[in-house]
Amino acid sequence: MTNLLFKHDLISIKELDLASLELIFSTAEKIKLNPVHAILNDKIIAHCFFEASTRTRLSFETAALKLGAKNIGFANAESLSLKKGESLQDTIRMMDEYADLIIIRHPLEGAAAFAAIVAEHPVINAGDGANQHPSQAIIDLFSMRECQNKINGLAIALVGDLKYARTIHSLCQACSLFDIRLYLVAPELLALPNDICDMLKKRGVRFSYHHSLEEVISKIDILYMTRIQEERFNSDPSLMHETFILTPSMLTYAKPNLKILHPLPRIKELPVEIDESAHAYYFQQAKNGVVVRQALLSLILNESIL
Ligand code: CP
Repeated sequence: MTNLLFKHDLISIKELDLASLELIFSTAEKIKLNPVHAILNDKIIAHCFFEASTRTRLSFETAALKLGAKNIGFANAESLSLKKGESLQDTIRMMDEYADLIIIRHPLEGAAAFAAIVAEHPVINAGDGANQHPSQAIIDLFSMRECQNKINGLAIALVGDLKYARTIHSLCQACSLFDIRLYLVAPELLALPNDICDMLKKRGVRFSYHHSLEEVISKIDILYMTRIQEERFNSDPSLMHETFILTPSMLTYAKPNLKILHPLPRIKELPVEIDESAHAYYFQQAKNGVVVRQALLSLILNESIL
């Protein structure tokens, strides 16, 4: 099998074909069975987080450490020479001099693509505005495959802020490579952007719009919840909070195999009472972040396959 990820950027999930996704899944599975693969001993990874993160930054850092690499970077742009007026271009040029791979999260759509143009080394997009979060989509699919033993044939509800959640945008694009059925559950103001709906239609993905969780709960295998992305609103988002809150009573209508995913962080949409449910799978999903990101780093920085 050829490793098409070697030396490549990962800016959008659209760059990956089915074979590359399967290679990431199988590599992550091997790492899960045998977590010690110190194959990046001579590598330095730069983690450039211009926007808040818990899981993405720390799971990428953990993944790098488990592979033997060293980490540099920042979790807060306040400490950088950007404060003195340095450009993003010069900041990335410097990181490119110091590291073998750059991971960037930035509030502006297109910032990761810009970094990939500036840098000679591979760049991974860890989230750019409301645009893309490709490594999260790979974790989501890997987790679905793990908890349902398949991806093809799944019925998946995407719930909440489908307009601004970048995880949703990347996941829709990734799902379009498989034979899946999508239920889009969102208030009209937070509907999936037209360009992504058009892509789903073009690729023949079956999907429908819904305004309540109750309409779909008995039909689905995966319930993918998202939070309201307050930081991307121009107006007061507080009214939206009550729109889609999953309650334990709703789950009485769920299929026995239903699993709940959420990229986290959660706010009100996923109460802690749900954590006790056998349907909850979001903490396993977050844990999968480390092995999937180990797989990504190892495939981008090593031509050989584990
Ligand atoms: N899922 C996710 O992107 O989480 P963080 O914002 O904590 O990185």
